[in-house]
Amino acid sequence: MSDLFDLTGRVAVITGGAGLMGMQHAEVIAAHGGIPVLVDVVRAEDKAADLGRRHQVSAKASQCDITQPDSVSQLLKEIIGHFGRVDILINNAANNPKMENSTDVNFSRLENFPIEQWHADLAVGLTGAHLCSQVIGSHMAKIFRESGRRGVILNIASDLAIIAPDQRIYRQPGLPEHLQPAKPVTYSVVKSGLVGLTRYLATYWADSGVRVNAVSPGGIYNGQPEAFVEKLINLIPMGRMARLNEYQGTVLFLVSDASSYMTGHNLVVDGGRSAW
Ligand SMILES: NC(=O)c1ccc[n+]([C@@H]2O[C@H](COP(=O)([O-])OP(=O)(O)OC[C@H]3O[C@@H](n4cnc5c(N)ncnc54)[C@H](O)[C@@H]3O)[C@@H](O)[C@H]2O)c1
Repeated sequence: MSDLFDLTGRVAVITGGAGLMGMQHAEVIAAHGGIPVLVDVVRAEDKAADLGRRHQVSAKASQCDITQPDSVSQLLKEIIGHFGRVDILINNAANNPKMENSTDVNFSRLENFPIEQWHADLAVGLTGAHLCSQVIGSHMAKIFRESGRRGVILNIASDLAIIAPDQRIYRQPGLPEHLQPAKPVTYSVVKSGLVGLTRYLATYWADSGVRVNAVSPGGIYNGQPEAFVEKLINLIPMGRMARLNEYQGTVLFLVSDASSYMTGHNLVVDGGRSAW
């Protein structure tokens, strides 16, 4: 049974690999014998070296801007040059900049949302996922068709891919209506788009040995303000946010042979939030 989850020797490209969740994906992949490649705009050599030491795998960091086609093509060359193979792609990167507000405008609100921010968020979350899938997925599909090997793309969406944000939980007491913060529109658009991309790629490559699924996680508790957490957990039947490592089982299931007959699916793991 445990063979179903064995990733020995499989090379797993994780975009946004240096971030909070990227490292969790890398951790569970390495713990099952896989070789994580931490792909990020920021350097992650130390993190890769630490993973490699602890799990005895040859983890690697690759600096790459996934919004740039040349950068992604170069990434594939580098990985094939180094490992000779790629088996798993996790489209996990997201644009999470702190939005600067002025005293009389809150830019997170739809009315004021800057077009530059729209383009930047879609560039990483959607265009980046498309480019990595186009370059790395096409390579996998070609090799797999010839060799009979199997591979996986996993898109990291969000519970907000399937439900609208409840803007009440982002409100701050004492602020006038026009300065109340909002969950940015791009978050919903990027995450819903990823589910569409998942279905498109899954059927496109269904006969080429590349399975494509999405996971829609709920929020991870990471020291957010107590007042926000209180409001959020009221929306979650299980009454709490997710623990940092709590998606590792789901990710392992979706990138391993344990999910071998599954493609085009969006697995919702949200403490029951979307069931209410
Ligand atoms: N943290 C949560 O509670 C939560 C919940 C649901 C879904 N998600 C999703 O999980 C994913 C990871 O979230 P996180 O919390 O780890 O975020 P994070 O900000 O910690 O990590 C995102 C990483 O993406 C990298 N990145 C940004 N632009 C890039 C680019 N152009 N090229 C390459 N890398 C780039 C960043 O440098 C960063 O390391 C995101 O898609 C997020 O929307 C997170």
